[in-house]
Amino acid sequence: MTASDVNKVSNTLPLGRNCLLVVAHPRLDRSAVNAPLVETAQASGLIEIHDLYETYPDYQIDIASEQARLLSHEVIGLQFPLFWYSIPALLKEWFDLVWLHGFAYGGTSPKLSGKRLFCAVSTGGDSASYAPGGHNGYSVEEFLRPLERTAALCRMEWLPPHILHDAPQLRGPRLAEAREGYRTYLNSALERHHA
Ligand SMILES: Cc1cc2nc3c(=O)[nH]c(=O)nc-3n(C[C@H](O)[C@H](O)[C@H](O)COP(=O)(O)O)c2cc1C
Repeated sequence: MTASDVNKVSNTLPLGRNCLLVVAHPRLDRSAVNAPLVETAQASGLIEIHDLYETYPDYQIDIASEQARLLSHEVIGLQFPLFWYSIPALLKEWFDLVWLHGFAYGGTSPKLSGKRLFCAVSTGGDSASYAPGGHNGYSVEEFLRPLERTAALCRMEWLPPHILHDAPQLRGPRLAEAREGYRTYLNSALERHHA
């Protein structure tokens, strides 16, 4: 490799942190929104994609391997469709089994401390419905409070979530715009010094 090759490589490398994107969608093969967003994240070349439903179709989560994966990344992203105002079942199981006392929280040095946590959520409802007085009553941020508090408990840095409303309507140019928005969001989540 020549010096100019080295420069070429370093120009394409992230200036920021290494990122794990945990994807939780039970039917990614039928997804109109999350699948293209995963492609966008993958195309960045900076992010390790970890598809929970593909890895654990039987819900038999390998706890040690999941903990090691978390430890080896500085930024942890969770990408999922909102299901019943909450996270999909396997993602909940993953938290319940992997984010243990003495690992994720408690004790003198919780091991995820200082890492960043973000969520990328898609909803069927439109943005007007996720407001006081709207059909869903609260913003998505309100429904994500348990995850926000989990980050605090684990002494992680919680980033404002990426939210895509009205997912079934995102087609053609609107989907392309959404993908571009996600790319920008991910770049900012990975920046070394987050504003
Ligand atoms: C079991 C289930 C529960 C859902 N619950 C909600 C919900 O609480 N709020 C909402 O806005 N959309 C809800 N939806 C719609 C999904 O969030 C929406 O279809 C998804 O975000 C679209 O993403 P995709 O194209 O990647 O599948 C639900 C869908 C399913 C299948």
